Amino acid sequence: MNVYHSFLREEFFRLYGDRATEPVLFFSPGRVNLIGEHTDYNGGYVFPCAVDFGTYLLVRRTDRAEILMNSLNFSGAVAVPVVFNYLPIPKSWTNYPVGVINEFARKGIPAYGMEMLFYGDIPSGAGLSSSASIEMVTAVAMNHLTGSGLEMIEMVKMGQKAENGFAGMQCGIMDQFAVGFGKKDHAINLNCDTLEYRYAPMNLGDRRLIITNTNKIRRLTDSKYNERRSECERAVEIISDHHPIRNLSQLTVRDTWMLDEYITDPVVRKRAVHVITENGRTTDAIEALQNNDIELFGSLMNKSHDSLCSDYEVTGAELDTLVFEGRKLPGVIGTRMTGAGFGGCTVSIVDNEHVDNFIKRLGDIYTARTGLTADFYLPGIGDGARRI
Ligand code: GLA
Repeated sequence: MNVYHSFLREEFFRLYGDRATEPVLFFSPGRVNLIGEHTDYNGGYVFPCAVDFGTYLLVRRTDRAEILMNSLNFSGAVAVPVVFNYLPIPKSWTNYPVGVINEFARKGIPAYGMEMLFYGDIPSGAGLSSSASIEMVTAVAMNHLTGSGLEMIEMVKMGQKAENGFAGMQCGIMDQFAVGFGKKDHAINLNCDTLEYRYAPMNLGDRRLIITNTNKIRRLTDSKYNERRSECERAVEIISDHHPIRNLSQLTVRDTWMLDEYITDPVVRKRAVHVITENGRTTDAIEALQNNDIELFGSLMNKSHDSLCSDYEVTGAELDTLVFEGRKLPGVIGTRMTGAGFGGCTVSIVDNEHVDNFIKRLGDIYTARTGLTADFYLPGIGDGARRI
């Protein structure tokens, strides 16, 4: 029993009573994407890994026809009647678990009455997939409790659908996939078109991965995200009038002439340039890591950020300050925003001996420039969603 288990278990019994029936514990990580940003919904490559912090869920079946949900991160209990068709509750965190329970129901796997207690140590809204983590912890728990034996890939797709339908975020598949399929000390090389994947050992030698949280309050992230997605769809439509394509990732850097030739809207053209070049950078970066060329990997991370800043326009002053100032510090191999952007976090690779200086100096510069305080995490790379 780990420390979370005993602590959560006490809270569970305090909330729900009946110490005679033990609840079961599940865990699902958060994720950090190393490179391959805004490529997933364009059928491209991504290269994320699961981190060693995430969401815990203690759950137990009951004979009542309702699902009781509590979270140590949000106040107030929520009771949801067991039905066949669930509806979102505006602005409630419970949309993530309920969205997944709804996906099970749509597959003909109704929920039982349940008592659930969630606790997460992923900073919420920081772009480290706290929502996918809640979805996937709910999915593995439902799979276990209902004995339905669903494969992880099916649950990943259900998590994505829950997010699309219940949270209104038209996300791709990367987050749920990374959270579901995470593997200790490995990153995942995922082709989001075919869903073929490979694990790549994350051997950084004398360097560390650092996540830096801007702590910028994100507003309208979902609508801006959905807008980027439609701009990419528009680019596909326009190009398809001349060369039929299903998604932008079917084009390579050699095809960028098509963008100049066919797309007149400069905004749509820039979005497509990002996706196509980012896909190229991602495959190059994965190869660089295989060849132990961390310097090249880092320089591709830097280029990825530049493209997200100028062509995809999803960075903003806070992320740019962390990245552009971070790059000037000693021992920084590569640094970029990670996740959807518009705030959230950066991911950096820094020489071990310079980590303390990086945290201190960048923290000071960031506060001086933005008035905000950044948080720094040194994550381990962990396994995916599972029963503990
Ligand atoms: C969010 C989405 C993902 C992906 C990233 C950007 O995290 O949930 O599907 O699109 O943004 O790469």
